[in-house]
Amino acid sequence: MFDRFERNINYLRISVTDRCNLRCTYCMPAEGVPLVHHEDILRYVEIVEVVKAAVQFGINKVRITGGEPLVRKGIVGLVEMIAAIPEICDLSMTTNGTLLDRYALELKNAGLQRVNVSLDTMNPDRFREITRIGDIRQVIAGIDEAVKVGLSPVKINCVIRNSPEEPDARTVSEFGRSRGLEVRFIHQMDLDSGYFRGVIGGDGGNCATCNRLRLTSNGFIKPCLFSNSGYSIRELSARNAIEQALENKPECGSVNTTSEFYNLGG
Ligand code: 5AD
Ligand code: SF4
Repeated sequence: MFDRFERNINYLRISVTDRCNLRCTYCMPAEGVPLVHHEDILRYVEIVEVVKAAVQFGINKVRITGGEPLVRKGIVGLVEMIAAIPEICDLSMTTNGTLLDRYALELKNAGLQRVNVSLDTMNPDRFREITRIGDIRQVIAGIDEAVKVGLSPVKINCVIRNSPEEPDARTVSEFGRSRGLEVRFIHQMDLDSGYFRGVIGGDGGNCATCNRLRLTSNGFIKPCLFSNSGYSIRELSARNAIEQALENKPECGSVNTTSEFYNLGG
């Protein structure tokens, strides 16, 4: 549906968990983060209820994010339930790729259409530094498996400090070229300030055309990544939370001081 500023809101990003099996330096402190309590994490049936309610408002595009969505048990089942909602014509996932090797085929068979894999360098040592604990070979295997099973397109999200021409980013550009995969660059955001820059070449980060709502892992509909407001689906019902988020989606976001990326899925 159209919001107050004539934007056609048709895209819902769902964070299914705030947990992750990596510890990227720009996303989390080394010791990890205070996690959402288990009982506050939405059950899959609740998430599906939200998607069904959102469809009534014109949502037809869903992206599953985290944290790392593939660390949540039963995630393939959620994909299957969302894919079974006929109005949803675009179903995608953002993942760090470490578990894709294992899950790509099941995800494809469950109805996932495409994936974005986060990858900031092709240098194994730099990868280990950035993610603190990651093994880049798993991610490359995951990307190759995703391509092989026909998830399409497979895109790569690369966080940069300054420019797509910096050394780490260039290695990823080269990898993308060699595999025939699109690489999208995301400016590293300063989590302390909360100020915002979009994905280069992506359709986010442009308030005038922003078509998205977010559902956090603990059940808040957020109208904007760069605003502190959120509407609880458990307190208000999915329908009312979505309605209020649509009514209160700001013309332009500014600062977010409450939610970190690991709970919003970037
Ligand atoms: N700045 C930009 N992107 C970030 N992400 C996580 N933290 C930041 C940050 N500080 C992105 C990751 C991944 C997604 C989960 O969020 O690159 O693609
Ligand atoms: Fe995990 Fe993504 Fe955060 Fe890295 S950026 S710690 S992969 S959620």
